[in-house]
Amino acid sequence: MAPKTSPEIGGMGHSVKRKEDPRFLRGLGNYVDDVNLPGMLYLDIVRSPYAHATIKNIDISKATAIPGVLAVITGKDLEKYNLHWMPTLMSDTQMVLPVDKVMYQAQEVAAVLATDRYIAADGVEAVEIDYDPLPVVVDPKKALLPDAPVLRTDKKDKKDNHIWHWEWGNREATDQLFSEAEVTVKEDIYIPRIHVSSIETCGCVASFDKVKGKLTVWMTTQAPHAIRTVFALVAGHVGLSEEKIQIISPDIGGGFGGKVPVYPGYVIAVAASVLTGKPVKWIEDRMENLQADSFARDYHITAELAGKKDGTLTALRIKTLADHGYTDAAANPSKFPAGLFHVCTGSYDLKAAHVEVDGVYTNKPPGGIAYRCSFRVTEAVHTIERMADLMAHELGMDAAELRMKNFIKPEQFPYKSALDWEYDSGDYGAALKLAMDRVGYNELRKEQAEKRARGELMGIGISSFTEIVGAGPSKHFDILGIKMFDSAEIRVHPTGKVIARFGTKSQGQGHETTYAQIIAEELGFPVDSVLVEEGDTDTAPYGLGTYASRSTPVAAAACAVACRKIKDKARKIAAYLLEAHEDDLEWEPGKFFVKGSPDRAKTIQEISLAAYTNHPPGVEAGLEAVNYYDPPNLTYPFGSYICVVDIDKGTGEIKIRRFVAIDDCGNIINPMIVEGQVHGGLTMGLGPALYEEIQYDESGNIMQGSFMNYLLPTAVETPKWETGNTCTPSPHHPLGAKGVGESATVGAPAAIVNAVVDALWHLGVRHIDIPITSAKVWKLLRDAGVRG
Ligand code: CDP
Repeated sequence: MAPKTSPEIGGMGHSVKRKEDPRFLRGLGNYVDDVNLPGMLYLDIVRSPYAHATIKNIDISKATAIPGVLAVITGKDLEKYNLHWMPTLMSDTQMVLPVDKVMYQAQEVAAVLATDRYIAADGVEAVEIDYDPLPVVVDPKKALLPDAPVLRTDKKDKKDNHIWHWEWGNREATDQLFSEAEVTVKEDIYIPRIHVSSIETCGCVASFDKVKGKLTVWMTTQAPHAIRTVFALVAGHVGLSEEKIQIISPDIGGGFGGKVPVYPGYVIAVAASVLTGKPVKWIEDRMENLQADSFARDYHITAELAGKKDGTLTALRIKTLADHGYTDAAANPSKFPAGLFHVCTGSYDLKAAHVEVDGVYTNKPPGGIAYRCSFRVTEAVHTIERMADLMAHELGMDAAELRMKNFIKPEQFPYKSALDWEYDSGDYGAALKLAMDRVGYNELRKEQAEKRARGELMGIGISSFTEIVGAGPSKHFDILGIKMFDSAEIRVHPTGKVIARFGTKSQGQGHETTYAQIIAEELGFPVDSVLVEEGDTDTAPYGLGTYASRSTPVAAAACAVACRKIKDKARKIAAYLLEAHEDDLEWEPGKFFVKGSPDRAKTIQEISLAAYTNHPPGVEAGLEAVNYYDPPNLTYPFGSYICVVDIDKGTGEIKIRRFVAIDDCGNIINPMIVEGQVHGGLTMGLGPALYEEIQYDESGNIMQGSFMNYLLPTAVETPKWETGNTCTPSPHHPLGAKGVGESATVGAPAAIVNAVVDALWHLGVRHIDIPITSAKVWKLLRDAGVRG
C-alpha cells in the first residue's frame, strides 16, 4: 500500500493559494528578510510529500512557463557542479537537492528562482514530480532489525541503518557494582523529538559580485566564521575563496542551536547567486521551519542506577538509541558523537558508570541539534534526575535527602567524575537548601501527606542538575577540525571611545550589554563609550559562534584577557606621561596614579589620546588588543529547581502551583540578563515537559506540522517563576563566571516530571515520558481506578 501523505505540506493537493496562506508568514520581524538589494531574485522550495520515495520524473515545464520564473533548480543541476551533497557537522553527508530519492517528508526536492517572492511560490505549485514510494522506517528500533530496508543506499558499503556505536566509562567496574548492589532501579525513558521554534525562521540573502568575485551572505547563523570556512571548503572548486566570502549575521531572532547547521536553502541561494550574478533571497516559512529543519533530542534511553539501602548511590549504566533521521547532522564537537551525554552522572559522587549510545538512520529530517543545551546535556540531566527520584521512591526516602546524601561535596572540587569530566567548582547542597527554604519544602511535604489522605493529588519534584558549558578546551573540542576557542578584539580610539568585536554571535542574549560591562569594569571606560559588534566575518575576529552557553565561558574570558593586555600598555603610557616607574603606579577604575600621590594621575581617556599623540619612545602607537581564548577547562554551572504540582483527578490537568529555581553560574556579569535567561529557559523547559513533541505516523507523515498541534507554551500556560542564585565562582575563568543561557531549559523538565510522578507514585505510576499531557495523566488515573 502506498504511504498516505499529510495534507499539511505545501503544494500537495490543497487549493489554498500560497500567497494568501497564513503559512506564508516568515516569522516576526525577520532582519535577514529586511535586506533588500536592487535586482534581487527570490527562491522558493518544492518539498516532498513522501518520507521515502524514488523520484521518477520532475516536470518543470508548467513552472518555467510562468512569467517571472527564471529557473527551476534540481539535484541534477547541482550534480554538474558536485554540489548536490554537502558534509554535515558530524562528517556525514546530506543532500542539498536529491538526484534519485527523497528521505523524509518535507525534504527539499527542487528550487524555483523568480523575480518576485509570490511568483516563486506559484512556480513551486506548478512543478510536477512523479514519485515511486519506498518502504518507510520511522522507528529506530525497527530500523535496526535485520529485515529493515537499508536507507542510505548512496553509501556503497552500507548494509544496515546503524550509524555508529559509542561508549564511555568503565564497564567492568560498573557491572561489578551492579552485581553487588543492595538496590537497583531501571527505567526506559524516551526523550522525544522537539523543535526550537525560534521567533524568526531561517533564511539568507546571497549576493555574488561577479566583478570582484566576492560573495556576501546575510544569513541566520549562530556561527558565521565556521559557516564561511565550510562554504570555502565545499565550494572552493567553483571559485569561492575564503577571503572573498563575507558572512553577515544580523539580529537573527533566536537560534537555540537550530541556526548552527547549514540548510540546503542557504546553499541553493548561494549557488543561484553565483550562477546569475544577482542577489538571491531565500526565507523559510513557519511550517517549512517546523517540518524540515534539524530537530533536537529523540533519545531512547534505558537507564539503571545502583545503590545501597541507606540511599548511597554507587553506579549508573545507560544504553541509548539515538534517532538521527536520515543523516547524522548533529551539531556536536567532532570527538563526541553523543555530545556531552556522558555528563549523565550529574551532581552525584558515583563510583563507576558506563554509557553506550548507538546512532540510527530513519526516514526523518536530521536530528541531534543542541537545543538550548550543551550537546545532549538535557538528555543526560533528565535521565539522572529521573533515576535519582526513582531510587528515592523505591527506598521510601525523601528525594531531597537522597540528593543531599550523594552530592559531590564542596571540598571534593575540582572533582573528577566517574565518566572523566573534571568539574571546576560547586556547592550543590547550598543551592538545594536555598530552594527548599524558598519553597517551604517541609511544610509542603506535610500538606502533601494530608492531601493524599483526602484523595487529592499533589506532587513535589526536584531537579538538582549540573551543566557543562564553554566548549571548549581545544585539546578536546573541535567542529569539523576547527578548534573550539573564541576571540575578542578591542580597539581604543584617540578620543577614548572603544570598539570591541567578538567571534561569538548573540541571538538575543544581550552580549552588547554584558561585553561592554566587562570592558567598562576592566578599563574604566563608561559603558556608553563602548560599541560591541559581532556577526560580520569581514570585521570580527575568528570565533566559533554562540551556542551551548559558550559565550561567557570563552568569549567573555577573551574580552577580559584583551582588556588586561590593554591595561598593561596603558600602564606603560601612563608611566611615561607621569615620569614615574611603572611599578610605582596604582590602578583604580578609569585611571593610573602615582602611589601615595593620587593627584598625579592620568585617566584612561588621557592615556588613550597619548597612545596616538604622545606615546613612549620604543613603544608601538595605538591602544588595542586581541585575544584568542582557549579555556583550560569547561565551566560547570548548576542549580536546584523545585516544582509543586496539583493534578485534577477528573481531567488529568497539571497545574504548576510553585516553581522555585536556584541557579549558580559563578560570578554574574549582569543580574537582570541572567534572570531573563533563566525565565526564558524555564519556559523552554516547560514546553517539552508538558506540550511539545514531533511524532511521525508509520508512513513518515509529520503529525505536528504546524503550531496548531505543535504546542508551544504561551504566557497563559507559563507559571510564575521564582528565581534566585547562589554564587560559586569558576576558579579558572578570568572573571570567575560560568555560562547560564541554557541551564533552565536543561534543568526544568526533570523537576516537572518528578513532581507529576511524585503525585501519582502511590497509584503505581513509576515514570511518564515527556510531554506529560493531560490525556496521558487522565488515562493513568482511569487505569488506577481514580475518578474525578
Ligand atoms: O553563549 P550564550 O550567550 O548563549 O550564553 P551565556 O554565556 O550563558 O550568556 C548569556 C547571557 O548571560 C550573556 O549576555 C552573558 O553575558 C550573561 N551572563 C552573565 O551576565 N553572567 C554570567 N555568569 C553568565 C552569563
